[in-house]
Amino acid sequence: MASSFADDKKNVHLSISQVVKDFDGFKAVNDVSLDIYQGEIFALLGASGCGKSTLLRMLAGFEKPTSGDIILDGQSMLDVPPYERPVNMMFQSYALFPHMTVEQNIAFGLKHDNLSRPAIANKVEEVLNLVRMTEYAKRKPHQLSGGQQQRVALARSLAKEPKLLLLDEPMGALDKKLRTQMQLEIVDILEAVEVTCVMVTHDQEEAMTMASRVGIMDQGVIRQVGEPVDVYEHPNSRMTAEFIGSVNIFEGTLSKDESDHAELICDDLTVAIHASHGVVGSLGMPMAYAVRPEKIQIKRRAPDQPCNWAKGTIKDIAYLGSHSIYHVELANEKIVLVSMANSDRWSEVDDGPRLSWEDEVYVYWADDSGVMLNS
Ligand SMILES: Nc1ncnc2c1ncn2[C@@H]1O[C@H](COP(=O)(O)OP(=O)(O)O)[C@@H](O)[C@H]1O
Ligand SMILES: [Mg+2]
Repeated sequence: MASSFADDKKNVHLSISQVVKDFDGFKAVNDVSLDIYQGEIFALLGASGCGKSTLLRMLAGFEKPTSGDIILDGQSMLDVPPYERPVNMMFQSYALFPHMTVEQNIAFGLKHDNLSRPAIANKVEEVLNLVRMTEYAKRKPHQLSGGQQQRVALARSLAKEPKLLLLDEPMGALDKKLRTQMQLEIVDILEAVEVTCVMVTHDQEEAMTMASRVGIMDQGVIRQVGEPVDVYEHPNSRMTAEFIGSVNIFEGTLSKDESDHAELICDDLTVAIHASHGVVGSLGMPMAYAVRPEKIQIKRRAPDQPCNWAKGTIKDIAYLGSHSIYHVELANEKIVLVSMANSDRWSEVDDGPRLSWEDEVYVYWADDSGVMLNS
């Protein structure tokens, strides 16, 4: 779905402009500007305490920005109280009323909108159908599973047809297996109603699975915005590279900076790092190079390439079913992580026997496998 938000189709629906939230001198949100497109699912991703919920609460109107503006569908929200905003927030705890049935819970929010009884009943039926909970209409929340409660909470949030739906750690209360299933289910529902959604999560898998674009947040600042594949393949800093997935970082000094490639002299390797991506620097300056474990390969013989390899010893092998992680120790004791798919019954390399502990091997990768990073 990420591809449907290509540059030529974007239509800004929500504009967050230079927003700051200062709590007694502490900037929980520090000058965030962000455009959210019509119909997209945007995930704010970051470690606990980085300011995600504070930003979301400002979108909902529960907090007032210290400065900056929030423009939804062309209208500034600054002076619009929460209950008058065309915005709905679904909380992690779902906040369902325990004494009301499923349908009463959903109808409750509609009663203040001066809708007729039949109109309310129709709407309740429509959203229950949407989340496939029609047969549970008469149950109370405690008679539902966690996933079912979440579907009811989502139905209630969508019943008022908000222009913007906010989800704060939506899967927080569910166990791992149910989370994965609900993530896909919620995406289907949100796409069906074409609602614009901003969600908050600290779970990168959740963000990557659900979102059309991800904003990586750190200490009140958005560090990088992009489609999941962009932020994973082309992190713009060490922070984002290390935050998403696992990564090998090599530090060194820039020894070549050409238009199509750059080289880094690196103490960890006897050869240079040669990269075709991501350089803005001057010769001799310290740089880092980030390469993902699944982009590195292992060989028993020295690879036939001038750059991007090192000799090492296998110190650990973590078998994870679909793939294994090899911990290869270089001469200077640096550990390089290599992920290899277990698509063959045994991992054979160079027609030799299966890789094992203490084997002497070479790790190597291609020029376009990683990115140079300034910071
Ligand atoms: N009402 C408040 N008063 C003072 N500090 C707050 C308040 N709300 C949040 N903070 C602080 O702002 C920072 C960001 O909080 P929050 O937005 O909840 O983070 P996240 O949702 O990313 O975990 C934290 O350091 C938190 O302690
Ligand atoms: Mg939070």
